Amino acid sequence: MKVLFLNGPNLNLLGQRQPEIYGRTTLADIEAQVRQHAAASGTAIDFRQTNDEGQLVTWVQEAAGQFDAIVINAAGYTHTSVALRDALAASPVQAVEIHLSNIHAREEFRHNSIIAPVCKGQICGFGPASYTLGLEAAVSLTSK
Ligand code: DQA
Repeated sequence: MKVLFLNGPNLNLLGQRQPEIYGRTTLADIEAQVRQHAAASGTAIDFRQTNDEGQLVTWVQEAAGQFDAIVINAAGYTHTSVALRDALAASPVQAVEIHLSNIHAREEFRHNSIIAPVCKGQICGFGPASYTLGLEAAVSLTSK
């Protein structure tokens, strides 16, 4: 089984970016945690980050036939990107939406996720654990 992890804009800054909200764990640390969990369940993962909306769209499009599930933290594009939603809606690969912070407990503009209706479900508010929970959700999705 293969799971594609996609990370959107500014997540490359984790560790130094608003640590009071996002903590001190870097994206590389999170990737290492995910890889450890994935190895334990015999899951192969690809872990990517981009600041570019079009790149996220392209990666979602290319996932068909290559991956069994997508776990996506679309960051700011969660709340703005119709193009990303369209790509997820068009993809035969099921997606799990994740966030480090609880977007529903933050500013009003973060309460709406444009991609939520086309994802299988959403995990948010657990810090770096949202990623390993996302992996578990992806694995359980594809074992059904
Ligand atoms: C985020 C939440 C988004 O609202 C924000 O734009 C991010 C990070 C999170 O993981 O908590 O960049 O996706």
